[in-house]
Amino acid sequence: MTDLIHAILNRSSEPRLDAPAPDGEVLDRIFQCAARAPDHALLRPWRYLVVEGEGLERLGGLFAQTGESEAERDKLRKMPLRAPMIIVGITSVKPHPKVPEIEQSMSTAVGMGYMLLALESAGFGGMWRTGPMAYHPSVEAGLGLAEHESIAGFLYVGTVKNPKPDLPRLETSHFVSAWPPVDC
Ligand SMILES: Cc1cc2nc3c(=O)[nH]c(=O)nc-3n(C[C@H](O)[C@H](O)[C@H](O)COP(=O)(O)O)c2cc1C
Repeated sequence: MTDLIHAILNRSSEPRLDAPAPDGEVLDRIFQCAARAPDHALLRPWRYLVVEGEGLERLGGLFAQTGESEAERDKLRKMPLRAPMIIVGITSVKPHPKVPEIEQSMSTAVGMGYMLLALESAGFGGMWRTGPMAYHPSVEAGLGLAEHESIAGFLYVGTVKNPKPDLPRLETSHFVSAWPPVDC
């Protein structure tokens, strides 16, 4: 098995992430991996925001504005503090006659996946989260998204402290089949 396949088979998400987060050249290479996502017509329909330190508190403030009760606002405010860094993946749709928006969103999604793998291979951990905060107009506005942009997800990034869980292995035949089916 190649190192790459081993890394893919052993990647897992980590909800509890501590400092440090990657920086400098390591972080740059992680973004270079995102930029290798397949990209129909090379539209580069994505951009990323790096949120750290006080930025995480400001992001918590944006989340809290959407809450309806003090308890809910308090919960939302704390959400971004679950990791020392959040990378916000943004799809920035470029109008194109042959590349529909869905393909552009998929390109961002692949970039997010590549970053998760790159993070793990660089000794860090991550978790891709969305939830209502990824789709709330006031969060989008607060993060400076334009009309043609949307949030693909919040990648929580940091250092994994807990031992890796046993990973589930799905039976390949449960999700792969030949077409046409043999009895047709
Ligand atoms: C687009 C997208 C959004 C997600 N949003 C959330 C989320 O908001 N909260 C959550 O607990 N998991 C979310 N997940 C799932 C986790 O990132 C993770 O994949 C899942 O917990 C399974 O863990 P694993 O990656 O180790 O297999 C999301 C995954 C994707 C692809």
